[in-house]
Amino acid sequence: MLSVRPLAPASRPVGDGWVDRWLAACSDLAELERSNPMTDAVIDEISGRMIRIGDQWLADFASCNYLGFDLDRDIIAAVPEYLDRWGTHPSWSRLLGSPVLYEQIEARLADLLGCEDTLVLPTITLIHLAVIPVLARDGTVFLDRRAHKTIYDGCQLARAHGATVKRFAFEDPDDLERLLRADQSATRLICMDGVNSMTGNAPDLNAFARVAREYDAILYVDDAHGFGIIGERGAAELCPYGKRGNSIVRHFGESYDNIVLVAGLSKSYSSLAAFIACPSELKRLLKTAAPPYLYSGPSPIASLATVLAGFDLNEKRGDVIRADLWEKTNRVLRRLHRLGIHTPNRSGFPIVEIPLARHEDIDQVGRFLFDRGIYVTLAAYPLVPKDEVGFRVQITAANTRAEIDRLLEVITELANAFDLQPARHAEYAA
Ligand SMILES: Cc1ncc(COP(=O)(O)O)c(C=O)c1O
Repeated sequence: MLSVRPLAPASRPVGDGWVDRWLAACSDLAELERSNPMTDAVIDEISGRMIRIGDQWLADFASCNYLGFDLDRDIIAAVPEYLDRWGTHPSWSRLLGSPVLYEQIEARLADLLGCEDTLVLPTITLIHLAVIPVLARDGTVFLDRRAHKTIYDGCQLARAHGATVKRFAFEDPDDLERLLRADQSATRLICMDGVNSMTGNAPDLNAFARVAREYDAILYVDDAHGFGIIGERGAAELCPYGKRGNSIVRHFGESYDNIVLVAGLSKSYSSLAAFIACPSELKRLLKTAAPPYLYSGPSPIASLATVLAGFDLNEKRGDVIRADLWEKTNRVLRRLHRLGIHTPNRSGFPIVEIPLARHEDIDQVGRFLFDRGIYVTLAAYPLVPKDEVGFRVQITAANTRAEIDRLLEVITELANAFDLQPARHAEYAA
């Protein structure tokens, strides 16, 4: 039998190995996982966006189902017919064969995004691990310092395959340009997030795209949180998110020249799948060069079905749903503004982080929110730097007015009980 050495408790003396250093870095998080009801919870039941944990009902502000597609009756009703036709799971690797549903999803995605082609794989994590090393070759990867952990992991693998990784400052195209100017490699890949999963802001994509094109680099953008929410701007738009939810490239009015977009369907589209938007030639290359197309299992049929039904709903009512989501988010941001509470969110997108003045308060703040029926994501160190430790509120279209009222009441109470960071001069002004 395989014996696995148990991971050491956080209090164990730190050695020299990377595991020891990583465990030490994660000790605050490990402590929260052990002691706080707001982490690693078992959810016993849901009712709309209310969740039950034991005998406590809480309003869920930790869901990434931004558009509420997970609860939509038309989408749920669409699934059984697909299961009847296809069974529960196509257990071929995609290189062996894929249900025609994949073709349909990839074509509809390309049409929605306005890109040449798309390739669907199960998760963004798998895409980063598979695609970043292929695009980087033995050249240089320019990595946004604050990029998502899964992008970092893809870059680590690229490094193991011979690429050099250089990090540039967050939201700083000038710093990126400085590094590119000094770099002589034949292949240059820039890796960064689209809508940031903690700040809720988008980078200045026009500036980054300009730098990428000028230095003949590929700009690889992970818009896990923007896809489905933000989209092309236009006169008939119902809110500042833009129209159609067709992601960050269209939101900034950019073409796909030198840009590879990656996003997931597991957030706004509530389905286990992800995609890469790229030229058909790259798609062909990735089918054999990117391991998950050959070596990983595909998404379950129910997820392929909910993606297709999600596209229909997006066409019919997506913009109205997004306008409602914008309004709900706006209420939260306006209240924070009135209370003088800092949030990094400048965009109005539905991710609102509230950092604490003292990172040591995180456990108590988590309990305070939990006891008052509010469920959020605790952002502990090392998920965020110590001066950004706090909690992340995600608003979804399925959150009711009453749930948002309760959230605002509890945040007001929290601001009296704990020190939050005061608003700075250039905060979001709704
Ligand atoms: C920016 C970003 N990239 C990637 C991921 C991972 O996505 P997936 O679950 O599809 O691997 C997440 C998950 O939250 C994310 O926020």
